[in-house]
Amino acid sequence: MGMFGVYIHIPFCLQRCRYCDFATYSVDQVAVNSTYVDGLISEIQKQRNLFSPQKLDTIYFGGGTPSLLHPSEIQRLIVALNNQGFTTNAATEITIEMNPATLDENKTTSLLQSGINRISVGAQTFHDHHLKNCGRKHNAQQTLDTVALLKKLNVRFSLDLLFALPHQSLQEIEEDVDTFLKLNPDHISPYCLTLTEKHPMNTNRPSDGIQTEMFSLIWGRLEAAGYQRYEISNFAKPGQESRHNLLYWQDDNYWGLGLSAHSYKKSPDWGTRFWNPSDYKTYLKTVEERPEGPQVVDAFFSDDLYEKLEAHQALTDFCHTSLRLRRGLSKSSLRQKFGEEALRTVSQRALPMREDGRLLELEDGWTLSDHGVLVSNTVFEGFLFLKGDIDKPKSHLIIKDSAKGNASGAI
Ligand SMILES: C[S@@+](CC[C@H](N)C(=O)[O-])C[C@H]1O[C@@H](n2cnc3c(N)ncnc32)[C@H](O)[C@@H]1O
Ligand code: SF4
Repeated sequence: MGMFGVYIHIPFCLQRCRYCDFATYSVDQVAVNSTYVDGLISEIQKQRNLFSPQKLDTIYFGGGTPSLLHPSEIQRLIVALNNQGFTTNAATEITIEMNPATLDENKTTSLLQSGINRISVGAQTFHDHHLKNCGRKHNAQQTLDTVALLKKLNVRFSLDLLFALPHQSLQEIEEDVDTFLKLNPDHISPYCLTLTEKHPMNTNRPSDGIQTEMFSLIWGRLEAAGYQRYEISNFAKPGQESRHNLLYWQDDNYWGLGLSAHSYKKSPDWGTRFWNPSDYKTYLKTVEERPEGPQVVDAFFSDDLYEKLEAHQALTDFCHTSLRLRRGLSKSSLRQKFGEEALRTVSQRALPMREDGRLLELEDGWTLSDHGVLVSNTVFEGFLFLKGDIDKPKSHLIIKDSAKGNASGAI
């Protein structure tokens, strides 16, 4: 059956960090107000038929800095989803991203009362000179205070760690990891700073070799401390994986609300991806003009905002997302969705990567080896399928599978 989750993008930040490329506005550019939340609620109401009403496994308030919203606005959004049949209960994982120093005890308590049960903190680093150079508004002490508050309130939390910053040393990474481990979060997401070549911050960066050493150091220390690397660059204590992250990588449906948010629906045929405009005014105008009611993506989204997947694209996505997970790419799931012929094609591609050590063979598929994790881009290139690489239309699969009494015709 799979999981289903909703992503809600909140595009406001105290400041624009120098390295950030996300769709977000500093509060000097666009004031945090209820107009945007009204737009989100209108989107929920008008587009509710895109997915059938069901219990939500996850909601993720991402940004941007969603912790800048008043807790009552967060609550309005959760209630709006519930009112349209997308229900939440105690088992629904509801995460909010926050920047250190944007939440006090009262506000955090109100968020927890409105249903938030997981908080992802953009700690980045505990070296103030790096935070300053990144253009962050917070300092290390404020992150420590924020974490102390979360622990006092006994809420699940994750910390983001940013590495490969200009002038950053291995010694500093070692110190950051020490501090992260002392804080004992349930989950840690290390991010390697990614910039365009000509970006002003892209000088005096650690070399590629040192960046790899930095990641290996983080990985080794986190695993030694009991965190499991469940995805290429996400670590969790047992049972503390982000369920919302997981649904992106295990071929589940998800609904993205808000500007620039992306959605994925496994039907019709090979699935559809659709997304919203990334400009604030255009988003609000687009949502206002959208009609209400129909179930088909074409009715809401202009041609530049959706893509109906073809078999080769769906197979590429399936291989890439599955291989991001430590549990890997399952042969039986692949066969069930794409058929025997596609499995043969994928197996042929996997063979040389198994032989050169980038992939490990599992009982029912493949996973990245430790070396494969470090060169995962080359593995993904190997699983890029072009039109004609697999050409079996889905209807053949349905006929074939249903003839065998296999339920996969319902995909
Ligand atoms: C979308 S941000 C939201 C979190 C929050 N606004 C913050 O920055 O603290 C999620 C994470 O993406 C990471 N990130 C943002 N820009 C990045 C970049 N250019 N390269 C690598 N990671 C980046 C940061 O570590 C950040 O914590
Ligand atoms: S706070 Fe986060 S989302 Fe906002 S600009 Fe900085 S990195 Fe980007």
